Amino acid sequence: MAGLNPEQFRALGYRAIDMIAEQLAQLDEGATRLPVPLDIRHRLEDQPMPQTGIDPFALLDRVQNEILAYPMGNPSPRFFAWVNSTPTPIGILGDLFAAAMSPSAAGGDQAATYVERAALTWVKDMLSFPQEAQGLFVSGGSIANLTCLAVMRHVQTGGKARQDGLVGMDSKMIVYTSAHGHSCIEKAIHALGFGSQNLRVIPLDEQYRMDVAKLREAIAQDRAAGLKPVCVAASAGTTNTGAIDQLDDIADLCEAEGLWFHIDGAYGGFGILAEQTEGLYKGMNRADSIAVDPHKWLYIPVECGCAIVRDAEAMRATFSLVPAYLQEDRAEPWFSEYGLQQTRGFRALKVWLSLQHYGLDGYRKMITNDIETAYELRRKLFSRRDYEVVTAGPLSVTCFRYLPTGVTADEADDFQRQIVALTNASGRAFITTTMIDGKVVIRACHVNFRTTAADLDVLLDTLTEAGQQVLASGHAHTA
Ligand SMILES: Cc1ncc(COP(=O)(O)O)c(C=O)c1O
Repeated sequence: MAGLNPEQFRALGYRAIDMIAEQLAQLDEGATRLPVPLDIRHRLEDQPMPQTGIDPFALLDRVQNEILAYPMGNPSPRFFAWVNSTPTPIGILGDLFAAAMSPSAAGGDQAATYVERAALTWVKDMLSFPQEAQGLFVSGGSIANLTCLAVMRHVQTGGKARQDGLVGMDSKMIVYTSAHGHSCIEKAIHALGFGSQNLRVIPLDEQYRMDVAKLREAIAQDRAAGLKPVCVAASAGTTNTGAIDQLDDIADLCEAEGLWFHIDGAYGGFGILAEQTEGLYKGMNRADSIAVDPHKWLYIPVECGCAIVRDAEAMRATFSLVPAYLQEDRAEPWFSEYGLQQTRGFRALKVWLSLQHYGLDGYRKMITNDIETAYELRRKLFSRRDYEVVTAGPLSVTCFRYLPTGVTADEADDFQRQIVALTNASGRAFITTTMIDGKVVIRACHVNFRTTAADLDVLLDTLTEAGQQVLASGHAHTA
């Protein structure tokens, strides 16, 4: 082994596992996320490439002191920002084994192929999606959405886009999403050459879902203007509020209008497993394609997204290109024929291990519990003075404001940002803001089986103390 004999590797590996075990053991009590001290930051980013090798044990010391000590924070039970989960411990080991094997999971007769097929079968089952659909593990939700929408483009151009591009298409193709559709949908629209001007942003109804009546009107208007509506990209759980679009109604509309029905389920797709969401996902299994993110609500270590397309042959026809040097071992199609990557990481292993470790029942419980904890947060907000719940959607995200006496309406937006910044700097919890109805709100979202009611108290106590600190300093108005 270059530079390491088996005994040295073993010793190094044991130490690494001890470090990770220690890291996991201190999550409940330790800081969520700490600002990276300037000297450490400089050591990390300005270090010249060493001319000669460094002792790997010394490197592990650095990992311990300079890297593990300054995480993004999402493994912690008090991380409430964005949509980033705590990782499953067995998934961590899955990534280790995947790295040890370091295969290209492009396809062919190797264990990785069969493990990915099994994991995809289970994921489709979890989503109640038909098994004839083709799945593919990709880096995350953004690429999963892009992959699905690329298939949509292929189908809606009658297969011509591969040869001709979009140049010369006789009418402009229009895609519809909601005002709370994720930015990755617009990025995909850019990358696929549709252009933002051909993305219609449909207003929301009172529950922050895509307004289906307005969607219908927009489609009619575009047709009347000689344009070509091709796709609705709906959400099964928006990032801002967790709203789930009316999937069954949108499926009806897409069917009647000949539109591709795509669902972004990156955050909320697996919410279908929760006890509290019965009925809300009706119609999800009618989609032409769906993007989900095992690295969100299946708690799989980053990276792992998943694109699923009902028409497997259309997905293959969109991407398949098999050069001369890749002709062997092709009794069955390769995964690389269904997406952009040729060499592919063995992402499926961490999914396969995690799904078996917890089982379907375990996942149902964890996701149900996350939503119950969000309900608990709302109860706590209602019971605290000066907190206002702004959105309380069906999943694990809650938007709220802290408005103690002394904060004027003009100062309220800056005040939310300031108390979030102070809370995050404390290391006790980590949370972010978003905009709802033109106002800055604090947004608490967790996809984290470690989060308990006690963590919610830490969050709210820290925000409250931060608020009092801002008021005491007389700076509620200067962000
Ligand atoms: C609803 C939704 N769609 C797409 C994405 C993008 O997924 P990723 O960050 O895995 O690329 C996110 C990320 O939070 C999301 O919440």
